[in-house]
Amino acid sequence: MSAGSFSLVHGSATWLAHFSCSLGYRTRLHIMLGYAVLLGAHVTITDRKVALEFLKSNVQANLPLHIQSKAVVKELTWGQNMESFSPGEFDLILGADIIYLEETFTDLLQTLEHLSSNQSVILLACRIRYERDNNFLAMLERQFTVSKVHYDPEKDVHIFKAQKRNQREGL
Ligand SMILES: C[S@@+](CC[C@H](N)C(=O)[O-])C[C@H]1O[C@@H](n2cnc3c(N)ncnc32)[C@H](O)[C@@H]1O
Repeated sequence: MSAGSFSLVHGSATWLAHFSCSLGYRTRLHIMLGYAVLLGAHVTITDRKVALEFLKSNVQANLPLHIQSKAVVKELTWGQNMESFSPGEFDLILGADIIYLEETFTDLLQTLEHLSSNQSVILLACRIRYERDNNFLAMLERQFTVSKVHYDPEKDVHIFKAQKRNQREGL
């Protein structure tokens, strides 16, 4: 299953602890998304308009018919039309290989900020290809507590966990 640029999950976070330890890059992240739906979470998969038809056909091909309605494919271009998502709406936000275009970093950060609450967990799987990728992580750390939760040396892929900084931390 390809999961667009973001996968956003509503619902109980109890399954998260169970599945976060088996995370890998792309495929496993997307398998986790499939499990989330199977376990009853409501999942929103987002990307730019141009990718939506492909995403819909992926959902149809990979999820059993009776739970397909729990996986909503929705347009989201980072930083645009954010009002179509309620602030802090999602418990879990997954992003695989989305840190690569410097010109999108500010919008991506603004989007993460809008979509997450103080309780939300964000998991980002990425390769650090260029110095600019580290620059994004530094930007992220200004607003979120960031930790590396997994590194796959064979694939050279990192998984970072981010949670909104407690506002008191900044005082
Ligand atoms: C390298 S692909 C990764 C796709 C998928 N997550 C995966 O791991 O196979 C980067 C994704 O980010 C999306 N993307 C790039 N710029 C974007 C933007 N400004 N707003 C929303 N999505 C964007 C692309 O459409 C694409 O789906």
